[in-house]
Amino acid sequence: MKKVATIAIALLLGVAIIASCGSSNAVEDEGTKEITEDSGLITVGFSQLGAESDWRSANTISMQSSFVPEEGYSLIYKNGQQKQTNQITAIRTFIQQEVDYIVLAPVTESGWDSVLSEARDAGIPVILVDRRVDVADKSLYSCWVGSDFELEGKKMAAWIDSYTKSINMAPSDVHIVNIQGTIGSTAQIGRSRGLANAAREHGWDLMAEVSGEFTETKGYEVMAALLERFDNINIVYCENDNEAIGAIDALEEAGKKVGSDIRNGEIMVVSFDGVNKEALDYAKEGKISCIAECNPLHGPRVKALVDALVKGETPDKFNYVDEKLFSSNEKVTEVLVDGVTYKVQDIGN
Ligand code: AHR
Repeated sequence: MKKVATIAIALLLGVAIIASCGSSNAVEDEGTKEITEDSGLITVGFSQLGAESDWRSANTISMQSSFVPEEGYSLIYKNGQQKQTNQITAIRTFIQQEVDYIVLAPVTESGWDSVLSEARDAGIPVILVDRRVDVADKSLYSCWVGSDFELEGKKMAAWIDSYTKSINMAPSDVHIVNIQGTIGSTAQIGRSRGLANAAREHGWDLMAEVSGEFTETKGYEVMAALLERFDNINIVYCENDNEAIGAIDALEEAGKKVGSDIRNGEIMVVSFDGVNKEALDYAKEGKISCIAECNPLHGPRVKALVDALVKGETPDKFNYVDEKLFSSNEKVTEVLVDGVTYKVQDIGN
């Protein structure tokens, strides 16, 4: 392990209060990090993109509880507060600190070539988690682990297709709005593409795509604004559960009934993640008609990748996580995507 003698680095103090739901599990940036030559620990700098959702908070906790001294690791956590510039600064700080590995959960895909080249020049391997980067030279990172976001979007679109067919709804009567995630993030790109392609293929009316930035507040604001623009929305495709919770608040405040009986005026909400308890309760009640799982528990997976690199092994470049669909609606029990059948997990009471 390369380590310089004692380096005491005063980092900017930043505090991320975990979970928009006000959980007591606070996750804080490390204010001062001391790296000593004889610690014997492998040092990992983790640049997390932010704390915008319950998914993100669960992901941070998973990382922090995997890279622990008992397992031979010291983790330096930095919260990028949704800003790529903060993440680039964090990576440069990790390089200065001469960490052994850098783990990056990038906020958006573009703009990483320079800083990842700097990490490579410093001889520090970079592991990507959750979202991906769009760099010309793929050797700038060792490997990636996360979700197949486009598959998530395709599965959700297949669920909508089966459901609307089961109630004999003409495709042209399917009026969808998409409350997108952070524009340019892998999760947004994949989920939006999954829906847009299906809308084109089936002839659905995809009326608007607006970013809700993966937050409850924005989900509420965007939904309220969409209701001002359109009076015929019958499906709201939210790119995460936090947005869905905000959107449902806006719909109910506007006097709309949320549910899957869209033939009789209800407005159907579908979403992604399956982490937030309120969203899962909504799914059981039928207020969220279907949730495509996005699994946040990447800590042990990233640790397995770093363990392999430590041993001198070459892990697979791209590592996908298997994920489910959850619904309490009994009309659709499975969906077919690209020749593969995925069962819908019934989460009804
Ligand atoms: O990149 C994963 C997405 O980011 C999750 O769906 C969302 O909740 C999060 O903020």
